[in-house]
Amino acid sequence: MIDVKPLHPLFAGEVSGIDLRDPVDDATRAAIVAALDRYAVLVFHGQQLDDDRQMAFSGSFGPLGQTAIVKRKGYTPRLNPHFTDISNLDENSEILALNDRRRMMALGNRLWHTDHAFRPVPSKYSLLYAHAVPPEGGETEFTDMRAAYDALPATRKAQIADMVAMHSLMYSREVIGFTDFAPEEHAAFPPAPHPLVRIHPGSGRKALYLAAYASEIRGMPVPDGRMLLRDLTEHATQRQFVYTHRWTVGDLLMWDNRSLMHRAGDYDMTQRRDLRRNTVIQDISTMDEKARATAAVA
Ligand code: OGA
Ligand code: MN
Repeated sequence: MIDVKPLHPLFAGEVSGIDLRDPVDDATRAAIVAALDRYAVLVFHGQQLDDDRQMAFSGSFGPLGQTAIVKRKGYTPRLNPHFTDISNLDENSEILALNDRRRMMALGNRLWHTDHAFRPVPSKYSLLYAHAVPPEGGETEFTDMRAAYDALPATRKAQIADMVAMHSLMYSREVIGFTDFAPEEHAAFPPAPHPLVRIHPGSGRKALYLAAYASEIRGMPVPDGRMLLRDLTEHATQRQFVYTHRWTVGDLLMWDNRSLMHRAGDYDMTQRRDLRRNTVIQDISTMDEKARATAAVA
């Protein structure tokens, strides 16, 4: 059975006693899900996965999501569509040029976010595995959005309880000055509504649901909504809520996007960084999930 050692006072656990190449039985899956409900991000060191084995492990937690990039002419993905390529490499495993669109698009991962929040049905879990890491930098930071919610003043909790934020992929890239999107891409990723406060179905805990994609609060003037989103993001990313993961080749991290935000750290992009991510998608939209949770309480 798995053993979990806490890595931070609030969240994050290191799991031992499991080889992720082995098929996951029901008891092990339940133990991992329970650990995610508690710790929100789990670190599995010293794994030996190829893409098929990573997909098999990820797929034992639900249907896998597909990568969000719209295919452009002359662009061949390096990995199969069930992977999001979290690397600085092209399809020939060469380091991407400074002006490569894929590299600039991926820079958006340095903003605090939660995966696929620009879709009405976002990712539940993300599973990121390290094949190559730079000698320094390139850490991944996580912030505990349940603890951040708990620490809000009661007046703020009451104010935001039923608010809905609009999340746009394009907005998150405009923030860093990247606007090279084709009309089909704008059409493929319309803004998605999400409750600002989610209730986790596994733990029952409330969590702030924010991301760099969040551009407006529904029903509020845009500048007011944006200021509120900024204030909440600043609150939620204070150091006491943050755990920093320093990567070693063979690490697999599994996290719960309903309970956290995360962001990539800066590194020297002349060094190779090859991380590959699967996501497990939710079975319902966040809006339906909130309606269900609210109905259960009433
Ligand atoms: C991701 C992501 C951060 C990183 O895999 O979803 O945002 O450190 N990664 O690369
Ligand atoms: Mn991400």
